[in-house]
Amino acid sequence: MTPDAALGDGAEDAIEEAVRALRRGELIGLPTETVYGLAAAVTNRAAVRRIFAVKGRPAGHPLIVHLAAADDPARWVQPPPGAPSAQFEALAAAFWPGPLTLVTLRRPSVPSEVTGGRPTVGVRSPDHPLAQRLLERLGEPVAAPSANRFGRVSPTTAADVRAELGDAVAVVLDGGPCVVGVESTIVELGAGGPMLLRPGGIPAEVIAEVLGRPLLAAEGPARASGMLASHYAPDARVVVVEPGEVGRRAAELAAAGRRVGVITRSSPAPAGVVLLGEAADAAEYARTLYRRLREADEHRLDVVVVAAPPRGGLGEAVLDRLSKAAAPRPAPGA
Ligand code: TXA
Ligand code: MG
Repeated sequence: MTPDAALGDGAEDAIEEAVRALRRGELIGLPTETVYGLAAAVTNRAAVRRIFAVKGRPAGHPLIVHLAAADDPARWVQPPPGAPSAQFEALAAAFWPGPLTLVTLRRPSVPSEVTGGRPTVGVRSPDHPLAQRLLERLGEPVAAPSANRFGRVSPTTAADVRAELGDAVAVVLDGGPCVVGVESTIVELGAGGPMLLRPGGIPAEVIAEVLGRPLLAAEGPARASGMLASHYAPDARVVVVEPGEVGRRAAELAAAGRRVGVITRSSPAPAGVVLLGEAADAAEYARTLYRRLREADEHRLDVVVVAAPPRGGLGEAVLDRLSKAAAPRPAPGA
């Protein structure tokens, strides 16, 4: 297939427009397999700084660098002292392009704005034909966080990026709904051994199998913003319950006068409650979760009652995001 046929009519024109915008120092909405990103050309420091302003994100929360599949990661990163480069190479070979971010030492070619001044940087190669084509045409990586305002639900469609960020993005490339639906897994390759910083699109157990050793659990102060307590949150309150409890809990809340929505595994919604969605397995939960949480706000619901996803595999990333969406919110102005 030619690239045009693979990408669909009009895609090449849209990509050229996005490349021009990035070269002018503007920001674009970038489709990936996980969630949409808010992207700047990685070497444009002013554009990278604008990402933080547009998201309302504290400067200390570093951005992920997205590489073309054909790019040489050694141009941008190097293994930390004491960590074998074989681990980086094995994981990149097994999972790129794909939803795995590797945190390792940055080279000076990555501006310090991207990493909030840290010596380390997260890199991944996204598994989406539009993203790959854009990176090839641009000729350098993009720095991109998820394209939501800080603390809010990540967008999984081009329309959600527009709704979230409006005119702050010059171009939103429409790559359709994201097929994974939750962010990449983040693994830090440090001297102490590979550490899981955020569960995501590739299950930790699958990564451990490639490494031949289990991943260390992250500890200490929150280093990824996804490690803060409240994050990924819609306006509606989120309540996570066992699958068999969804109907009872939703009915109770509705009886107390709340506007309630449910995300279930299979049980019907009680009368007076909005059925936001049903998810049969962990992959379907992941793919649909963020859109459903946005729908809860579009319906102006007060509460969403969500059936806990199955454990293991992608279920761990879904449960992580749900726990953070359900966490107590900081008081306004706090
Ligand atoms: O799937 C994804 O990873 C999406 C798509 C757009 O690629 N991106 C994404 O970016 O989720 P963001 O910025 O929303 O989340 C990246 C997380 C942040 O919590 C950040 O703090 C953490 O990665 N991170 C990035 N670089 C890091 C580093 N050097 N050390 C520790 N954490 C890092
Ligand atoms: Mg994010």
